[in-house]
Amino acid sequence: MTETPILECRGIAKSFDGFAAANAIDLTISEGEVVGIIGSNGAGKTTLLNIVSGHLKPSSGQVLFAGEDVTGVPSRKLARKGIARSFQVPQLFARSTALENMMLAVSLLARPHESILSRFDNDKLAKAAHEALAHYGIDEHTDAVVGELPQGVRKLLDIAMATAAQPRLVLLDEPTSGVSSEEKHDVMQRLADRFATSGTTVVFIEHDMEIVRRYASRVVALTDGTVIADGAPDVVFADETVAEVIVGEDVTTGGA
Ligand SMILES: Nc1ncnc2c1ncn2[C@@H]1O[C@H](COP(=O)(O)OP(=O)(O)OP(=O)(O)O)[C@@H](O)[C@H]1O
Ligand SMILES: [Mg+2]
Repeated sequence: MTETPILECRGIAKSFDGFAAANAIDLTISEGEVVGIIGSNGAGKTTLLNIVSGHLKPSSGQVLFAGEDVTGVPSRKLARKGIARSFQVPQLFARSTALENMMLAVSLLARPHESILSRFDNDKLAKAAHEALAHYGIDEHTDAVVGELPQGVRKLLDIAMATAAQPRLVLLDEPTSGVSSEEKHDVMQRLADRFATSGTTVVFIEHDMEIVRRYASRVVALTDGTVIADGAPDVVFADETVAEVIVGEDVTTGGA
């Protein structure tokens, strides 16, 4: 018997005023995979993530999460079902500390079976927040004001907050964008360690091909809203069209 995929996208399409940002995307992902999504600016990467996370409704097609049709289900509901999502730009309160930000995330993402009062139990929230910061190796910044943190730590904090409810599927939109090249590998290594430990499935959008090569177990290449290659990193990077349209461009522009 084959296992039910954690994620299945069937013929996903999304048009904005007649412009097809996503066009018949089929994608099946098994539990535990770490999938890198690559593609030039405007290829439809974020659009695809937005549809899977419930931030956008597809014009047509279906999204199945662990076998359940979740097409068009709003993001808040999907977060409770086990899909977490981070954005290209971190969503943080810059004047608050890392701990305060994390406590807020923990309280907002508290499991529905927990009583509403427990969401305001400060000791409990602080304990959970401390643990989450430690899981991502950023507990040394617990009391630092977020606006003063290096970009890499901010990205990790943002992802720690988005994943506070221990999701089964994590969608990361450019986890290393804006992070210095020295910090990038450290950020990705911490994420890779964190999600490997919990067996969490990860889909991440990334412009830095070296990062994709190193951390993705599978690569999906998008162009004009369509999947042009999907497979092992070596196979996808050896593809002529991918090299020409995506990789070549990112080498010359340094990515976005
Ligand atoms: N809300 C929207 N309204 C109109 N057009 C949109 C909207 N969102 C995305 N688009 C268009 O759809 C296309 C795909 O956008 P998307 O953000 O998915 O690209 P991307 O691959 O994530 O690019 P980048 O690497 O720059 O983040 C682009 O041409 C974009 O302008
Ligand atoms: Mg994008």
